[in-house]
Amino acid sequence: MSIEILPLAQADIPGAVECVQQAFADDPYFRWAFDDPSKFNVERNAASLAAHFQYGINCGCPISVAKLTRAASDDKSDAEIRLPPGSVVGVAWWYSPQAPSKPPSWTVWAQDWILSFRQLMNNIMFLGRGGLNLHRYKIWKNVQQSAHDLIWQDPRGYYFCNVVGVSAQARGMGVGKKLMGDVIDRADRENMPCYLESSKGYPNVRIYEKMGFELIKEIECVDGGDVCKVRAKEKSRIIPKYPWTM
Ligand SMILES: CC(C)(COP(=O)(O)OP(=O)(O)OC[C@H]1O[C@@H](n2cnc3c(N)ncnc32)[C@H](O)[C@@H]1OP(=O)(O)O)[C@@H](O)C(=O)NCCC(=O)NCCS
Repeated sequence: MSIEILPLAQADIPGAVECVQQAFADDPYFRWAFDDPSKFNVERNAASLAAHFQYGINCGCPISVAKLTRAASDDKSDAEIRLPPGSVVGVAWWYSPQAPSKPPSWTVWAQDWILSFRQLMNNIMFLGRGGLNLHRYKIWKNVQQSAHDLIWQDPRGYYFCNVVGVSAQARGMGVGKKLMGDVIDRADRENMPCYLESSKGYPNVRIYEKMGFELIKEIECVDGGDVCKVRAKEKSRIIPKYPWTM
């Protein structure tokens, strides 16, 4: 399989949305937050993801997509990768470090409002949140904020991997590593820490360890007897990979 890693462009948003929906279909957090499958509205979810990707592009976030250039096989046969060239098979969305002492830029402030407005329009158009359990979403946001307050001690902020997902057909072939590589390498050159969260323990803990991350905390989102565990991982290299930048 041949892929190229490119910055997310406007035209890639539908492909990126589809890829993320597919990659997270069995994600424990997704299943916990969208707890009633009969209420799940895939179009509403796609509209929300598209609004978020637009937000990410407008805010200048480092977002990369992995695109199939041809389905010729190295490790898997063409028959296994049943996708046309140009298909998005992976997405990695990072937030650049934001020092907590500094207020967000005007661009981010304005984009926050625009995103809220888009989501309001989505609520109206789709008559609701498409099956998102709002109570659980708020539990998650609070738990996540408490974890960041506790863990994010670096005053310069963190490269925060907001989303990374690879289509099931393309997993285990180095796509995730390539997708995350640019920002991880940049963080290493700048000697900045990286951070991500994953609700899937196996095999993600192992995969992220291979990328240099270390499991630092297990966060629990509890709603009645229903618990969703999220693993927070951090990566900060003490020895920079590129000593000439020092
Ligand atoms: C997590 C995910 C993004 C990783 O992407 P990927 O393309 O499958 O990973 P890669 O092929 O680049 O593998 C990276 C490393 O992990 C190893 N690895 C991959 N799959 C593995 C598995 N199932 N078990 C153990 N190690 C594994 C690879 O061998 C590689 O190690 P290396 O550097 O020694 O070669 C992808 O599996 C995915 O999208 N999962 C579903 C969605 C998800 O959970 N997203 C993460 C939420 S934070």
